[in-house]
Amino acid sequence: MTETMVTKYGIVGVGLMGREHLINLYHLRSQGVAVVCVADPHRPSQHLALDLAHSFNWPLKVFSGHQELLDSGLCDVVVVSTPNMTHYQILMDIINHPKPHHVLVEKPLCTTVMDCRKVVDAARKRPEMLVQVGLEYRYMPPVAKLIEIVKDGTLGQIKMVAIREHRFPFLVKVNNWNRFNCNSGGTLVEKCCHFFDLMRLFAGANPVRVMASGGVDVNHKDEIYDGKVPDIIDNAYVIVEFDNGSRGMLDLCMFAEGSKNEQEISVVGDIGKGEAFVPESIVRLGTRPEGRDGVCTLKTEDARIKYEGLHHGSSYLEHLHFLSAIRAKCVQAPAVDLHDGLVSVAMGVAAQLSIELGRFVKMEEVMNENECQSSE
Ligand SMILES: NC(=O)c1ccc[n+]([C@@H]2O[C@H](COP(=O)([O-])OP(=O)(O)OC[C@H]3O[C@@H](n4cnc5c(N)ncnc54)[C@H](O)[C@@H]3O)[C@@H](O)[C@H]2O)c1
Repeated sequence: MTETMVTKYGIVGVGLMGREHLINLYHLRSQGVAVVCVADPHRPSQHLALDLAHSFNWPLKVFSGHQELLDSGLCDVVVVSTPNMTHYQILMDIINHPKPHHVLVEKPLCTTVMDCRKVVDAARKRPEMLVQVGLEYRYMPPVAKLIEIVKDGTLGQIKMVAIREHRFPFLVKVNNWNRFNCNSGGTLVEKCCHFFDLMRLFAGANPVRVMASGGVDVNHKDEIYDGKVPDIIDNAYVIVEFDNGSRGMLDLCMFAEGSKNEQEISVVGDIGKGEAFVPESIVRLGTRPEGRDGVCTLKTEDARIKYEGLHHGSSYLEHLHFLSAIRAKCVQAPAVDLHDGLVSVAMGVAAQLSIELGRFVKMEEVMNENECQSSE
């Protein structure tokens, strides 16, 4: 592959997830990709990224900020994997930069609906740039299989989608940004935008209203940062009603290390029921006429995955899809677009607000979020 055929990537934010992108892109090197530059103000993160790049034999230019990276003109694609509250300004700077860059931005798109909207509006004016949102759970093999089953109509008309995430607490992040709602958008935005995105996909519909109950009951209560105790919730139930009459439910617990699976998804239609289990990587499928005896269990895998990484191969497949959209020269839309990113954030914002207000929150209440709530 000649130098000019290589798609050059830059990564903004090389903490845990940025380095995960670096490793994934290395495993895509035979497809003609290379990471040529990164931007991060945090020295230890810079050094860890440099060590990785050296071990891959990739020369890497390191910048301390995204503006220098953009001005360098070194890359064609930018991966944004910085803390959530920084996504908005970084995205606006990328979109408004004279040189067009394709962008893969980590979830959540932004921490407020208003900021998401501004990014969507700005990106609309740059049709030559592709912007994909990192809602990568869609690509986990058992989830992808269940999506396929739902789409081919095997389960009939979907009526109920229940997603349980029972896992370990939030990890420690650089400067502990994820301990506060004002930085992360709140647990139901930060973490659960993945699940709201899946609910929308399975339901094949748009959310109408959201009711949630949740709290800070076990985790991080003995931690203090600059005199403040973390305010992020660690468990919640969320009910979502969709405009086609279907319902979704999220059951989140972040002190459930004693679980066999981290995610258990159940989708029930008027003909049958499908379930996906991660990390067991299995799908169960049954129909009403065949009953319990007819339930089959499928082991799911995707032979394309060359690196499993932290997310069961989904980051690898996410990059593969994004690269194919880039190579299709914008004729092919990104698999997870800005609208998907916006709605998944809005559902999380509605759920957080529902906990605060103790009532159902209509989606239109958060979709028309007031201008003064924006970060500008
Ligand atoms: N897809 C997933 O499932 C998944 C998993 C983990 C994290 N994430 C997302 O990835 C993003 C990063 O999370 P993380 O776990 O890597 O956090 P992290 O704290 O490990 O790393 C963040 C890095 O960004 C750097 N940074 C901060 N401000 C910056 C700026 N203005 N410009 C450049 N770099 C900056 C920090 O110095 C740090 O090195 C978040 O948006 C998070 O929600 C997604």
